[in-house]
Formats: sequence, structure tokens, C-alpha cells
Amino acid sequence: MEITVKSGGAAKQQTQCLVLFTGGNGEFPAFSSVDKDTGGLLSSLVERGDLKQAAGQVLMVPTVTGIKAERVLLVATGKDQPKASAAEKICAGVARALNGARVNDAVIAFDDLQLADRDSNWLLRLLARNIVSAGYKFDEYKSKQADNNAIVLGKIALLQSGRKALEGHKQAAAEGSAIANGMALARDLSNRPGNVCTPMHLTGEAKKLARGVAKLSIKALGEKEMEKLGMHSFLSVSKGSVEEGQLIQMDYKGGKKGDKPVVLLGKGITFDTGGISLKPGAAMDEMKYDMCGAASVFGAMKAIVELQLPINIIGLIATAENMPAGHASKPGDIVTSMSGQTIEILNTDAEGRLVLCDALTYAERFKPKAVVDIATLTGACIMALGHNISALMSNDEELADALLVAGNVSGDKAWRLPLDDSYQKQLDSNFADMANIGGRPAGTITAGCFLSRYAKEFPWAHLDIAGTAWKSGGEKGATGRPVPLLVQYILDQVS
Ligand code: BES
Ligand code: MN
Ligand code: ZN
Repeated sequence: MEITVKSGGAAKQQTQCLVLFTGGNGEFPAFSSVDKDTGGLLSSLVERGDLKQAAGQVLMVPTVTGIKAERVLLVATGKDQPKASAAEKICAGVARALNGARVNDAVIAFDDLQLADRDSNWLLRLLARNIVSAGYKFDEYKSKQADNNAIVLGKIALLQSGRKALEGHKQAAAEGSAIANGMALARDLSNRPGNVCTPMHLTGEAKKLARGVAKLSIKALGEKEMEKLGMHSFLSVSKGSVEEGQLIQMDYKGGKKGDKPVVLLGKGITFDTGGISLKPGAAMDEMKYDMCGAASVFGAMKAIVELQLPINIIGLIATAENMPAGHASKPGDIVTSMSGQTIEILNTDAEGRLVLCDALTYAERFKPKAVVDIATLTGACIMALGHNISALMSNDEELADALLVAGNVSGDKAWRLPLDDSYQKQLDSNFADMANIGGRPAGTITAGCFLSRYAKEFPWAHLDIAGTAWKSGGEKGATGRPVPLLVQYILDQVS
């Protein structure tokens, strides 16, 4: 999708579809000028009630005369001046209507859309992201594509009346589009089935991402190398599978030499059967999504590369398959992690923390400015926060605040849970330094507590995305979250 920002008058636009906004409050100069040129057609449609006056409602006017555009898409902004929440509906409405409209190009008079609580760059980022994302489909495994002759939306021009802040607007649109492209990669990897998307497959995808990108280099550690490093916690998970576990390192050098990197670490369990502590069968297919944390790191990295952001980032992917087998770990097994701390594996289904803890210790070598891990870590997180908001835990106030702000700005929200010391004792083991489970109460927090024991050397935050990374039921599919949050956080670091 090509998205451009330009200045000019709405009525003069030669396009298959001109998008105009109108509502109960404020001035809509582009709407008014086109209304005049079309002999009052638009205002008569609105007065007649053909366009419902609620934010995000749309009316396609299929033929118009008096202007150069072939069609007009009218979009309602609501009775009052729209705020961020209404803007989300408006952008989603525009994106859905344009992607379903059988047009190749559109021009959007976004200038008429003035928000009460956000600036135009924020709006452009959201609009561009929605438009690119609305075209997402996952049909890699359908033998017949739905419609080979489909008319695909390929070109969007965002129109502003004056010359004001053109460069800033171009950048904002590019950011929104890059975030959507990153989300699409995350969704593709996540939606792929477990028999295709294996740890080795992810290594291949990392190499693909780095192809032709001078600033991005890839290194992948196999089980032999991890053995040498003493990553026996990680290996206790991967050894149950015939698929070889991988610790993938994606090194993006966009910043100054010597600038401490931000490390993004993703849980990449390409399928979680639970291991010997086998999961029940119902909906187990969804455990192919247990690598959505890893996928979000891929997505964020793609966006960062596309935008060529001036910052050093290390993406780490801890990826393995969790299987029951003769050579799988058993409840009660004790392993020594790379940090030297010993772990009693009381439940082989608490495998995410076992692969992540060694990756966190590995991250110490980068002397990171911050480490953010992203993981579909606990079912308990869905009980706590549902499917709306991700859980955040951190040992650093500044980092936690920055991530919460990035979540709010991007609409990809997180909510902080306490990592209070008093929860730590739930991890006590009679036989090892710690157990890998903390019992039923506060399961998301005790998982965070476990990880915190491996994150003492740097500012660290943990995002539990068990509830937000994918949808179940009729709409089953990956959401691409928390790519928007992660990319916004990185954007905030460089601005
Ligand atoms: N990948 C799961 C967590 C999960 C479950 C995410 C369902 C999304 C939906 C994780 O590996 C797991 O199995 N966690 C256990 C931990 C427990 C054994 C302490 C869980 O949540 O039941
Ligand atoms: Mn599990
Ligand atoms: Zn898991």
C-alpha cells in the first residue's frame, strides 16, 4: 500500500473515491466546498438522514457530478467534536469501507477531522495503520484464493488544505503504515500452523527479514551452543521435541556505536501441548499461538527497519516446541539455569518462563538500556484482564511508565500488576532454589516474579499477552498485538 500526504483542494482531486468527513460540530471546509460543487447533493443526503450521525458511520455516494472524483465516501464524525475513542471508530469505518469498496485508490480529506484531545499526527498514524491493516487476510493455506480479480486498494493520498506541517504528516503516515506492516508479519507468523511454524522456521524468517538490510544481522544458537552456555532450563523444554530449539538474535544497529541497546525478547513456543503435564484437548489448536510474543518482536523489528529508526535494538527469540515424549522433562525434575539458579519443574506446562529465564540471563551480555519481554505466559492473565488489555510487570518505574504511555497513545493498552516481594514466596521449593509454578492465586504475578529473578542486572519489563495476542471462535486469528505498543515505545525513545 502506497500512502502519501499532499496539499490541495478536495474538489479538484482526480480519484476513484474521495473521502469526506461531516458531523454535528465544527467546520468541514472540504465537505462544504465539494457540497457546493455538487449542487448541494452531500448536504441533502445528510439532511435526509442517509448518513447516521454516529462516529464511524459511512455512506458511499456511488456517482457524483460537478467534481473530478468518481465517488464520495461520506464519514460521520458524530454529534460532538470527536475525541480519541471516536477517532478509533472513524478510522476503522473509513478503513473497512475503502477496503470493501472495489476501488484502487482514494483521497482522504483528513484535514476536516479535528480531534478535541489529539493532534493531527496522532490521527494520521491511526488512520494509516487502520487502512493498511483492514486489507489483511491470511489465506496461505486455502487452495483457492477467494477472488482472483478482486480490486485491491493500493494507493491512498491524505489531503490537507494548506502546506502546514507536511513533513511531520508524511512521517506520521509512514509510521502508521510501518506499524501495520509489522502487525501483518506478526499475524502471518502467528496464524501459521505448528507443523509449519517451527523454531527453525522462525530462524529462517529472521534471516529473511535481514536480507538486504545492512543494519540488521542475525545469529541463531542451536541446542549444542545453548548446552555450552549452560542453558539447561531452556533445554529442559526443547528436549521433549524432535524440533530443535533456537535462540535467535536479531541485531539492529540504527543508533550510535556504543549506545546501549533496547532488548525485545519474545516467547516463541511454536506449539504448547503442556508437555507431560498435558493440556486438555479442547481448543488446544490455539496453542500454536504460544509464539505470539516472538511474532510481536518480528513485527516490531520489521517496522523499526522500515522506518530506519536511529536506535540500537536487539530482538531475541526464545523458541522451542513443548511436547510430551520419552525424552521430555517430568514433573519433579530439577535443572540448573544459565544463571546458576536451580529450578524444580513442578509443572511442565509452565514452560514459557523456563525458556525466557535463560534468554534473560543471555541478555546481560548486551548491557541493555532496557529489556522488555513479551509472552503468552499465563491463562490467569485472561482471568485478570480479559482480551482487552495486556498485563505489564516491571522492576523499573520509568520503563513501566514509558510502556503504559506507549500503550495508551497507540490504543494497544497495558495495565500494570504489582510485582510485590510478598508474592515471591509462592515459588519456594523444598528441593531447588525455586519451583516453576506458584499455585493458583495470582498466577500472572508469580510468573512475573519468576522472571524477575533473572532480570536483576537491567531495567526490565514483562508483558503478558495471553489475552490480547489472538482471538478465538468465529474470528479466530492473531491480532498483531502488541506491535503497536512496542513500536510506539521505540518511537518515543528516538523523538
Ligand atoms: N501458553 C500457556 C499460557 C496460556 C494458556 C496462554 C491459555 C493463553 C491461553 C502457558 O505455557 C501455560 O500453560 N501456563 C500455565 C501455567 C501454570 C501451569 C502455572 C497456565 O496458565 O495454566
Ligand atoms: Mn504451557
Ligand atoms: Zn506456553
